[in-house]
Amino acid sequence: MDFPQFFFDLIGNRLFMAIIASIHVFINHPLAVGAYPLIVLIEWWGRRTGKVEWDRLAYRITFVLFIITTTVGALTGVGIWFTTALIAPFGIGSLLRVFFWAWFTEWLVFISEVILIMIYFLTWKRWSEGLMKKVHIGFGIFLAAFSWLTMAIIVGILGFMMDSGTWPVTRTFISGFFNPLYLPQLAFRTTYAMMTAGLCAWFMIFFFTEKGSPFRRQAVRLVAAWSFGWAVPFIPSALWYWYRVPDSMLANINVGLMTQRFMHWHHTLAVIMLATVGVISLITLIGIIRPRYITGLVLLVPFVLGIWLLGHFERVREFIRKPYVIADYMYSNGVKIEEMPVFQRDGILPYATWVKNHRVTSVNQLDAGCDVFLVTCSRCHTTSGLNSLTAKFKNLYGPEPWDKEVLNAFLRTMHVTRTYMPPFPGNDAEVEALVTYIKYLQNNREPIFDAQARWQPKPAQPVDSMSSP
Ligand code: HEC
Repeated sequence: MDFPQFFFDLIGNRLFMAIIASIHVFINHPLAVGAYPLIVLIEWWGRRTGKVEWDRLAYRITFVLFIITTTVGALTGVGIWFTTALIAPFGIGSLLRVFFWAWFTEWLVFISEVILIMIYFLTWKRWSEGLMKKVHIGFGIFLAAFSWLTMAIIVGILGFMMDSGTWPVTRTFISGFFNPLYLPQLAFRTTYAMMTAGLCAWFMIFFFTEKGSPFRRQAVRLVAAWSFGWAVPFIPSALWYWYRVPDSMLANINVGLMTQRFMHWHHTLAVIMLATVGVISLITLIGIIRPRYITGLVLLVPFVLGIWLLGHFERVREFIRKPYVIADYMYSNGVKIEEMPVFQRDGILPYATWVKNHRVTSVNQLDAGCDVFLVTCSRCHTTSGLNSLTAKFKNLYGPEPWDKEVLNAFLRTMHVTRTYMPPFPGNDAEVEALVTYIKYLQNNREPIFDAQARWQPKPAQPVDSMSSP
């Protein structure tokens, strides 16, 4: 919790993070992890059949991938580090302590991957015959393996954030990395990446092959067979993952109302997702049997559906992880579970370095309320922008002036029925201060622009003498 606030009012920290992370995943899965094995397959097939068109197609697709993955792909990867370090430094800090060596290894693998991409792409024309062609394909296989490996390492950390398994007790690297969600999520992402790589390659075939040519039909067929072949294991791995998640999440959810709503929503989404895979499978099946029916627009359908599927998956994954940034260890606002009783007793402000008011007094209620909002709610809500407190409370209590007692009761029990939110980590005076601030927000929609700058050094006397107990 002891980090300066970084807060994007209006669009909110959540969306800011989501945009960068989604772009990264949309590139990483289909265009790196899934695409390299497919390209190597096409290259190998070209060598085997002796048809140069295959080789040319593989080269052109690699050119596109090379540009996208080494620019937007790599930049958004680094971007995730920047944004998480700004928005949730406490979360990244804790994860680094557990997974330092995993991340270090991932970094080495990533650097190797970039070098392999360079070698693979830049030697393509030169190593085109005989033994050198074989060596080239060998590099392609290494490249495919390394790009999968980077994902396989990161998935350990992503799974840990959702379900830390036995780690809170054992605190070992192995128990954290091989958490209960590791294998299902790895299977899900691997098959997803392979399947959608085909959809993206399909898309490119229409630019890189001649309309109506027999080669285009052959290429459509090969790539359709690839995607269809991966859609088959994708379905059981998606189900494995899907049904692995709720059991552990539901165990933490204590009250029925949200559970029921969540379950209902969860099942509807599962059906929609399966239907999406069904449509993708159907279209790719047509691509195998009757490749000439697959024309420009039809081709876009599986591509768009593939992106939609992943977008939803990531959204749901982020949602069900709440209220935690690290399951069973730390809430999304940086408060550790074990710190909660202390904050509820003494208040959170005396322990927060980067706030303006370190204590609620009779004269600073409103300003201290703003501090309380920043440290306890701002990771997930804005004041009046996206997912704002003003909109949420208006939804709940209407446009009339909100009642102090009602807001007060809400804050004290917010985590009970709305299990996606952490308990309020503060004392009575801070609840009052936040209520004052929320009531103020109802009539004053001025966003907070200076969250980064609004802090005052703590007074010299020790914290203990300031707080009540
Ligand atoms: C872990 C992230 C997180 C934190 C921290 C958090 N919230 Fe929420 N809150 C959510 C989510 C998620 C929703 C659900 C709705 C959504 O995303 O649109 C929500 C919904 C709400 C709602 C609407 C509830 C309803 O039943 O309609 C209110 C009011 C609210 N939050 C207030 C607060 C206040 C006040 C704080 C700070 C004390 C806070 N939240 C902290 C994530 C959070």
